[in-house]
Amino acid sequence: MTSKITTNITVDAAYEAVAPDDFPAMMEVDRYGKRSTAFDKIISATHDHFWDPQDKKYVDFSTPFDMENEYLIDPEQNTDLKTAVKDKLDEKQKIKLVNMDVQWGLSSILHGEAGALALSASLCHILKDPGAQEYAANQTREEARHVAGFSNYIKARWGKPVPVGPALGDVLTELVNTPLVWKKLVGMQMLVEGLAMGAFASFYKWGRDPLMVKLMQLTMTDEAFHHKFGKIWADRTIPNLNEEQRNAIEDWAWEVFQVLLFNLGSPEQKKHIYAAVGLDWQWVQGAFMEAMTDTNIRESMQETSNIFRVLIKTLLKAGIITDRTAMNYAAFIDMKELYGEGDRMIGDDIAEEGIKYLRQLNGQGGAAYSLDRMSAAE
Ligand SMILES: [Fe+2]
Ligand SMILES: [Fe+2]
Repeated sequence: MTSKITTNITVDAAYEAVAPDDFPAMMEVDRYGKRSTAFDKIISATHDHFWDPQDKKYVDFSTPFDMENEYLIDPEQNTDLKTAVKDKLDEKQKIKLVNMDVQWGLSSILHGEAGALALSASLCHILKDPGAQEYAANQTREEARHVAGFSNYIKARWGKPVPVGPALGDVLTELVNTPLVWKKLVGMQMLVEGLAMGAFASFYKWGRDPLMVKLMQLTMTDEAFHHKFGKIWADRTIPNLNEEQRNAIEDWAWEVFQVLLFNLGSPEQKKHIYAAVGLDWQWVQGAFMEAMTDTNIRESMQETSNIFRVLIKTLLKAGIITDRTAMNYAAFIDMKELYGEGDRMIGDDIAEEGIKYLRQLNGQGGAAYSLDRMSAAE
């Protein structure tokens, strides 16, 4: 995806960047003393949500689950089963389909986590501010434990993840490789992380495998802070951009959103799943198109696609969605409702509960925890 803006847009010194291979710039003696305090709170808070995917004290991946006879998530939440696909399958096949859909979703998340790890590491090479670098290094470490956690879960339930879909793979590769800070932050911290937060919240809410639910909560305790980092950048950057820059970011975000929306759930990218239950993916695609013409089904699909809500809300609150593109998103979500909401995200409550639990487990006391005190304004 191309954008009209091909340079770093730096309006706040905390995001000043150099080329990925310009290490000499990192050794400029004056650089070390110029540290923004904007990220100090979220850096020190990392000890409030420490967990270790290799330690059974936090999460035990040997917990069994009957994959043949039990749904991993509430089947009511499955989009395939809202179409004519439902009438073609017996109960066992439905379980197989739903559980393979979960494998597809969690594999996409795992590839996303690998992308977030590489992207955070790449920020360490280009950001000049030592505070911003320390934040990025810390996020790298947290993304590494997500890669470990999701790898462990997928191994326990299926043995292996499925390959990344071409659309998601292309987006992640572009974000990791671009030298542009704004593209990395809007693309990863807002779009991909926003989408992931929505997906985690859904799996947490509708999951029937306690191990999966636990993994979601632990991951969300970290992701809530990654989301804050994106928000700090947006608060300091978006209001200070000129119109051309802001419009370019808004248009690019809409482009990436569409790629993610139309590809993640598309039957064409999930051919292997339909084949496993004896269905032709092109027939399934027809069943989807038919379902979309039915208002009731469309509405209930909108409800299940609520995973896009966090991402749209993030862009809106950051000032990246304006009247120019708000109508585009209105096809998927009630925008009026979003305008009226505060800054809190659906995942924040789940993350706060998780942090309280982790602090207790880590011997730091179990007092109530508020993510709101991490806001950039302080
Ligand atoms: Fe992550
Ligand atoms: Fe993250």
